Amino acid sequence: MQKEWQQGRSVFRKPGRSLIILILLILCLIISGCSRKEKETPADTGTGSDPGSLVIGFSQLGSESAWRLGNTESMEQAAKEHGFRLIVENGMQKQENQIAAIRSFIAYRVDVIVFAPIVEDGWANVLQEAKEAGIPVIMMDRLINIKDSDLYTAYIGPDHYQEGVNAAKYLLKKADELEEDMSENDRIHIVELSGTEGSSPMISRFQGFHDLIDRDDRFEVLETVSGDFLRSKGRECMQKLLKKYPDEIDVLYSHNDAMTLGAIEVMEEEGIEPGKDIVIISVDGEQAAVDLLKEGRINCVVECSPMLGDAVMDLAQAIVSGEDYPRISRPEESCFTEYDDLSSLGPRGY
Ligand code: AHR
Repeated sequence: MQKEWQQGRSVFRKPGRSLIILILLILCLIISGCSRKEKETPADTGTGSDPGSLVIGFSQLGSESAWRLGNTESMEQAAKEHGFRLIVENGMQKQENQIAAIRSFIAYRVDVIVFAPIVEDGWANVLQEAKEAGIPVIMMDRLINIKDSDLYTAYIGPDHYQEGVNAAKYLLKKADELEEDMSENDRIHIVELSGTEGSSPMISRFQGFHDLIDRDDRFEVLETVSGDFLRSKGRECMQKLLKKYPDEIDVLYSHNDAMTLGAIEVMEEEGIEPGKDIVIISVDGEQAAVDLLKEGRINCVVECSPMLGDAVMDLAQAIVSGEDYPRISRPEESCFTEYDDLSSLGPRGY
């Protein structure tokens, strides 16, 4: 026994060649096992089989609307087509979930982080951490409010201020028509359903619209209430607004289609004809809203495109490969109104 123990100890002290090879082999296996490219998460999409392909961590803010679902789908589809691995984390409308997701992407050492920030404020610390880890960050869809703009690499998304302006421009044209039936002191009464408080589309769609409407004294905004970009809250808000202003509402300006659809349901339950008794302006351009526009139950749909996936993947590739890339890119967007010929408008895809 004594002898065996001594033999064992002497082998440990002076390792033979085969033992050293075995230890090196085990070490190699441990290191490759920990490598991020081998890690599987349930939300992974894309093949990621090419060792040169990118791993992208995507913090989506939620799944509150058809727009948002279309946006997530566009990211997943584009990642597949580019052969990238996309790790999607749904923030479920909570900033703290998004911050935790970004931290997990940093720990995982992804190649690029993409995130759609639920609100504008409160991102400086986590973005500083990403910067220190040397991971580029692409902001998608929404903007943030930050002193040091070097904390993100690029932004890709719609111009929400312009969307508000487009909504107002349609209303200015419509007002010329409404004016004909108005007496001298009459005003056009507007109610506004705004999006998530503190989010960049809510702030900018409000601003773009008010910058044009507030200086025209034909208009009066009765109230702006937040429906949080949700159909259910759009319903709730419209019920309250109709109770408070039973015969006064001439125009509904709604910051997204989901809330508009909820509001229209309520109007119809109350015997109000949307698009005729109340002029309806909506933002997004999802299929359901465009169908209602064609039926005359919505008057104007301001387009906001969620199909950003391809452009995001190209941008990520350019950043990682050290090519030139635009710091800010915006998709082309349109505005569809009752005055347009909509017969050639194809399927929306969201
Ligand atoms: O940030 C874009 C907005 O977010 C879309 O208008 C809306 O539908 C979504 O919730």
